[in-house]
Amino acid sequence: MTTLSCGVLSGPICCPAPSSARGVRGAAGSSGASKRSGGRPGNGEREPSSFLSASSASASASDSSTSSSSSGSDITASCSSSGVFRGRFGARASPSALSGAAGRVGRGWTGATFGISRAICPLRCMAPTPGTGAAFTNGRPAAGSSQVDLTSVLSVDTRYKTETHAAASAGEQVVEETQVLFEANEEFRKNALVSSTEKYEEMYKQSVEDPDTFWSEIASQFHWEKKWDVTDGKVHTENFDVRKGPIKVEWFKGGKTNICYNALDRHVEAGRANDVAMFWEGNEPGYDSSVTFGNLLDLVSQVSNYLRSVGVKKGDAVVIYMPMLVELPVAMLACARIGAIHSVVFAGFSADSLAQRISDCKPKVVLTANGVMRGTKFINLKTIVDDALKQAKQEGYTVETSVVFANEVATKKEETAWVEGRDIWWQDVIPSQSTKSEVEWVDAEDPLFLLYTSGSTGKPKGVLHSTGGYMVYTATTFKHAFDYRPGEVYWCTADCGWITGHSYLTYGPLLNGATVVNFEGVPTYPDAGRCWEIVDKYNVNIFYTAPTAIRALMREGDKPVKKHLRKSLRVLGSVGEPINPAAWKWYYEVVGDSRCPISDTWWQTETGGFMITPMPGGWPLKPGSATFPFFGVQPAIVDENGKELHGECSGYLCVKASWPSTFRTLFGDHPRYETTYFAPFKGFYFSGDGCHRDKDGYYWLTGRVDDVINVSGHRIGSAEVESALVHHPLCAEAAVVGYDHEVKGQGIYAFVTLVEGVEYSDKLRKDLIAKVRSQIGPFAAPDIIHWAPGLPKTRSGKIMRRILRKIAASQIDELGDVSTLADPGVVEQLIELRDK
Ligand code: WTA
Repeated sequence: MTTLSCGVLSGPICCPAPSSARGVRGAAGSSGASKRSGGRPGNGEREPSSFLSASSASASASDSSTSSSSSGSDITASCSSSGVFRGRFGARASPSALSGAAGRVGRGWTGATFGISRAICPLRCMAPTPGTGAAFTNGRPAAGSSQVDLTSVLSVDTRYKTETHAAASAGEQVVEETQVLFEANEEFRKNALVSSTEKYEEMYKQSVEDPDTFWSEIASQFHWEKKWDVTDGKVHTENFDVRKGPIKVEWFKGGKTNICYNALDRHVEAGRANDVAMFWEGNEPGYDSSVTFGNLLDLVSQVSNYLRSVGVKKGDAVVIYMPMLVELPVAMLACARIGAIHSVVFAGFSADSLAQRISDCKPKVVLTANGVMRGTKFINLKTIVDDALKQAKQEGYTVETSVVFANEVATKKEETAWVEGRDIWWQDVIPSQSTKSEVEWVDAEDPLFLLYTSGSTGKPKGVLHSTGGYMVYTATTFKHAFDYRPGEVYWCTADCGWITGHSYLTYGPLLNGATVVNFEGVPTYPDAGRCWEIVDKYNVNIFYTAPTAIRALMREGDKPVKKHLRKSLRVLGSVGEPINPAAWKWYYEVVGDSRCPISDTWWQTETGGFMITPMPGGWPLKPGSATFPFFGVQPAIVDENGKELHGECSGYLCVKASWPSTFRTLFGDHPRYETTYFAPFKGFYFSGDGCHRDKDGYYWLTGRVDDVINVSGHRIGSAEVESALVHHPLCAEAAVVGYDHEVKGQGIYAFVTLVEGVEYSDKLRKDLIAKVRSQIGPFAAPDIIHWAPGLPKTRSGKIMRRILRKIAASQIDELGDVSTLADPGVVEQLIELRDK
């Protein structure tokens, strides 16, 4: 492995539903939530249109208002007028290419295959196969039998108008493709970890041809108490094909390690005890702290000793429902230290959602805080936890211990409700613990954490990650996708309640010994310059956020950004949804002063780490494209029959083989794991996303192809919202779809049928929204409620969501054939009621 020893991989890693029938207006339904159908159909995943679903958005983002000034036409204008669009990072495109971006759709540009000054194809093996790009015609699948019925998914239709492109044909969301190339300047490339396409190609080739050698060399740079087993030269085993038996993935089995030891002790032992591991910035400016690797290790040790003292052992679950205090990542690391499985629940989920998760994983202990301020809003976390624990108890599971961090900045201890015998103040039990804590050496395949994603049936899916492969993969992806250099300060704005906060706020950066910024607040409090103020305060070098935040800040104009220097910034990152070119360009030009490459990282809770991502310096970027697969990742774009497409094409994004941080199962439900992710396309992991690959081999994510709505970069199952709506006694039936939202990416649009005889009113609308807030959380609140005396259904009673999506998008002239509906008149009625 010559490239591996050339230093590219050396550095930081090697140094150290209700069912009662009420009168329903309209025909029978089987696919929206209805009182008569008992909320949700079936027990398994919603077929055929639901392959994945998960959980959702941040309260702050979802609270943001809807107007936006962002528009793709702004870019076209500025590009055209300046003749050539070239930043310091080095954009290259002909003016004609830019002004030729006709037919703007969605929030930005439509793509077009106009002249690119230079075509690159890092995956040279990927020769275009004539004809395979035409798997979808006019946004519909080509004729042919399908192993899974994807017809209804595809009938979602596309708003992609350019005939020469079918980029969005597999997904509802429109890809906004732009062929402008941005290339890092020479200085950047010279110093980059992956400094050329050639280097990437060489390493990528090794990683897929001999993954065992490739990943073992990287894994060797961590501490293993005992080395993993090697069988016939292999360090991993996998079966990704349901036809060949149970789906199974193992990496580094037999190896004994501990991710907490690798993230903390290793650096302390290497003499870095006094280096800052985490800057904590509170919601209120002026409230901050910094902890060194030594401090962090002490804190983690104390929490782990306490957990042991109350009987938490290796393999036990611990639920963490905390705001973004230092104590949140500390709690995660403390669990990892003793081999307990942490299950962090985003502290924006309602009591019902928390109770559901508690009942499922049965934690010995719940760790929480009494409250938090988010912007100007106080959130009483303790009452939510109390409510959840009460519900869990009614459902048959009692949590013995609830540890409450007294967050004095947000609320007073004496105002906190208390259950004697169960509740205990964090501050009363943790600081008195010893700062020495034995490490529990665990097998690489022992579980590290559970993270629930909302299921399309309403039952959340507990995505389970194991230890060794996750450790190796998150550390390596962090390092390369951000071109991390030792000593740099990195800020990820994600909450630890989501996967990004696990992999790229906690584990990935700390494993690399990076200094991370942990921010408790929201980007717009006290003003829209807060992020850049923080960047300057801590000299942040790498800044990682979501398109929804970028769009929200972009709406406030350039001034709040330019007020701050941002000189320290070197690399920017994006995650959660496709970033539209207008936001990309603003992020690049205004935030990054046309100096910083943007790593648009595509990945999922299930993948644990980046799957398709730029490696800054390695190759030119195209705004809106996540570019190329990470080492070891073998993406496949397949048609509706599961046939792999080659060259330029559009279809369903799958992965052909395991990568070290593949999720191992869904907690307690391996059959659902197989059915949801591996059964739709035999032999592949199915991501649930649509994807286009352009002629240069760049990957363009086009959004979900299932009934999952991506709100502010977080996933919400439409079925979950429907189920919450029909919990309202006056709601007879509900069908929920996503629609374009200028800040959130997608918003939630709910069609609601009321119980016979009930009058529609604004009060009822508010009550329905409140119902969803209390059942799921504020972030899942519908943006629009559309009264629906009837829903468009086929004669067999299936709701035609394609039509609802068109109505939601005001594309009334594109409704298509409605003659197969049981009652075509329903559509007209819905159109009439659109703005009522
Ligand atoms: C979407 C978040 C386009 C996608 C890490 C995926 C993206 C889902 C991107 C996973 C990106 C995430 N470009 N789409 N860079 N990143 N997505 O599990 O639809 O919360 O399936 O993980 O977000 O969301 P999850």
